Amino acid sequence: MLYKTIIEPFRIKSVEAIKFTTREEREDALKQAGYNVFLLHAEDVLIDLLTDSGTGAMSSAQWGGLMQGDESYAGSRSFYRFRDAVQEITGFAHVIPTHQGRAAERILFHTLLKPGQVVPNNTHFDTTRANIEVEGVEARDLVIPEGKVPSLLHPFKGNVDLAALERTLAEDGDRVPLVMVTVTNNSGGGQPVSLENIRGVRALCDRYHKPLFLDACRFAENAWFIKMREEGQGGKSPKQIAQEMFAMADGCTMSAKKDGLANIGGFLAMNDDALAAACRNLLILTEGFPTYGGLAGYDLEAIARGLEEVLEEPYLRYRIRSTEYLADKLVAGGVPIIRPAGGHAVYIDARGFLPDVPPLHYPGIAVCNALYVEGGVRAVEIGTVMFGLHPDGTETPGAMDLVRLAIPRRVYTQSHVDYVAEVVLETFRKRRELGGWRITEAPKVLRHFTARFSPLERPQR
Ligand code: F0G
Repeated sequence: MLYKTIIEPFRIKSVEAIKFTTREEREDALKQAGYNVFLLHAEDVLIDLLTDSGTGAMSSAQWGGLMQGDESYAGSRSFYRFRDAVQEITGFAHVIPTHQGRAAERILFHTLLKPGQVVPNNTHFDTTRANIEVEGVEARDLVIPEGKVPSLLHPFKGNVDLAALERTLAEDGDRVPLVMVTVTNNSGGGQPVSLENIRGVRALCDRYHKPLFLDACRFAENAWFIKMREEGQGGKSPKQIAQEMFAMADGCTMSAKKDGLANIGGFLAMNDDALAAACRNLLILTEGFPTYGGLAGYDLEAIARGLEEVLEEPYLRYRIRSTEYLADKLVAGGVPIIRPAGGHAVYIDARGFLPDVPPLHYPGIAVCNALYVEGGVRAVEIGTVMFGLHPDGTETPGAMDLVRLAIPRRVYTQSHVDYVAEVVLETFRKRRELGGWRITEAPKVLRHFTARFSPLERPQR
């Protein structure tokens, strides 16, 4: 390549205005929201980095495809196009559409799990964990130790600790109905898993006769990291690498709101005929007929096209670089983040950012709230509020306290990202003014979505 600037591999055809607010307006909005950024009106957010899920911009080809949607209840043409696009990449015999990723999880887990069992994963995401725990099953996180140290550099921090997985299978094997691997490892910093590691997991699954399912939400970003970082993989296309990843698994759950480049949708896919039949029966009960699964025909069209676009090299090069670009700016300013940068997000290490705020005073909430008040930037806590409450009602610190700045796909430009970096650096400069928080009300499951907070006394300095 002649020039070193990696540009957005698209031009913009339609725009949406964003609203500027004053600091006072933001303070007021946050108070109204119970100091939980999930409860803000999105209109009061300037740059929304709450999630990369369902927030991407569709291409003109996808929007055009919507008109091709076949809305037949059964046997829709759009379903077959969707199924073929999924099979082209995953190779799985059965493709079951769902309205989003967690519906695929719920159907798989409710069909397969029995109380008292254990599901290992590198790190379960919140909905995955909740859908396992609601079945009375333990969700066991077995990421490599390097994956839990934010500052430590490692090319595949999402890898499964194979020795720990082997111990789980040797000691609790009769209680393990399936093994999962999340690519990329969202709760652990959007970090990739290597082909070699998936091969290692596969070998253990073979030895103990366990099915392996990928949580494949960000499979294309994972494939790009493999291409860039894993020995011997640089010459392959992202699609070839993705195909290799899926070929080692027996099935997957997928949220098409991420690497499906769609605003809604997901699927469950697998090779086992009997399991697929049982899953389809539950699907009909709660999602819809197996050829639409809770989606419109036009959604299936958008996903089919999205799955092709997401594996294009110029897109993935730009995508991964633009996340790294934000990370580089924060590292240069001394902000503690998970390194290297994740695929879809930059994760601030809130314990490093606010070392005087203990985990049970929710340093992640302190940083999220400060970023919003400072510059109208919305991030999300991935830490003790999200993961600290256990099914038995006890509360312990999460593995890490992170603040995720998730980058929606194809939505923000470089100047938006420059602005975000400025806001984070200014918040970091003022960090001694920030104190802890306590929860005033919260549900018992997935409390982070609706909890309300109040500030603790600021520490005296
Ligand atoms: N698995 C992972 C790894 C995820 O990141 C998500 C969603 C899901 C499953 C569930 O998919 O939202 O379509 O039901 N993650 C979003 C996020 C919500 O913000 O990271 P869903």
